[in-house]
Amino acid sequence: MTQNPAAQTPAVTGAAHGGGTQHTGDTSKALYGGKSSRRITVRDITAAKERGEKWPMLTAYDAMTASVFDEAGIPVLLVGDSMGNCHLGYDTTVPVTLDEMTMLSAAVVRGTRRSLIVADLPFGSYQEGATQALRSATRLVKEAGVGAVKLEGGERSHRQIQLLVESGIPVMAHIGLTPQSVNAMGYRVQGRGEEAAAQLLRDAKSVQDAGAFAVVLELVPAELAAEVTRVLHVPTVGIGAGPETDAQVLVWTDMLGLTPGRVPRFVKQYADLRSVMTQAVRGYADEVVSGGFPTADNSVH
Ligand code: KIV
Repeated sequence: MTQNPAAQTPAVTGAAHGGGTQHTGDTSKALYGGKSSRRITVRDITAAKERGEKWPMLTAYDAMTASVFDEAGIPVLLVGDSMGNCHLGYDTTVPVTLDEMTMLSAAVVRGTRRSLIVADLPFGSYQEGATQALRSATRLVKEAGVGAVKLEGGERSHRQIQLLVESGIPVMAHIGLTPQSVNAMGYRVQGRGEEAAAQLLRDAKSVQDAGAFAVVLELVPAELAAEVTRVLHVPTVGIGAGPETDAQVLVWTDMLGLTPGRVPRFVKQYADLRSVMTQAVRGYADEVVSGGFPTADNSVH
């Protein structure tokens, strides 16, 4: 059996990071900007909701990028099945396998010291029922060393969430737009209209009752996301769900400008890595062709 020291030993280094929390009172415990350097747990996430603290989450798919986000103080990193589109070259998240998820989750765990690592259960690894979900989630916890798993679906995933939580595996739920169901629902805003909004509220309560420690709300009208956030005692994590959720998550390649072509309207781009990298790579290629690289400084004698 793979032993994963990162999973067993709390982190011992790390720094307090630049603030950003809006809550008042003791900020030393803040998920972002707080003083603690040990690895964050789901109990810390629960406490943040009680303090009324907002927090950021990002996706990560490899050790080196994850280490940047960890050192920047991002408290929760999601090894999302968006790796299908953003890392593995698939068109959707549907083809992602449990083997791929396990391998990349282990890399993210190895690259981080403080962030709580949450791994997605990929499509086909939990839909058969609670026992299959437990088998799949157990691999991610034992072999990759993640601290929690995420799965899609509200009422329909209640039994799976319940068994995982009873078995000691923390679960982040994901409702609203659930990309693994793209073939059935497309990429459309969810929860519009009275009936759909009522269903979304039922889904949110159902995953909370099953024991989920947090709920992702994807592409949901801002007013409805705000209502869900008020009603639930576990934190909501919004993506395309307006400003009132307890936390926000973005796909890192979207927010840092690496994703080619159009990104969803709700994404804010904080950098243009695609241009930066293209320019740097062309600079290197030009110098190789012109003889400007390597120079004596880049050579051994
Ligand atoms: O896979 C992913 O990146 C996700 C986020 C969009 C929440 O599920």
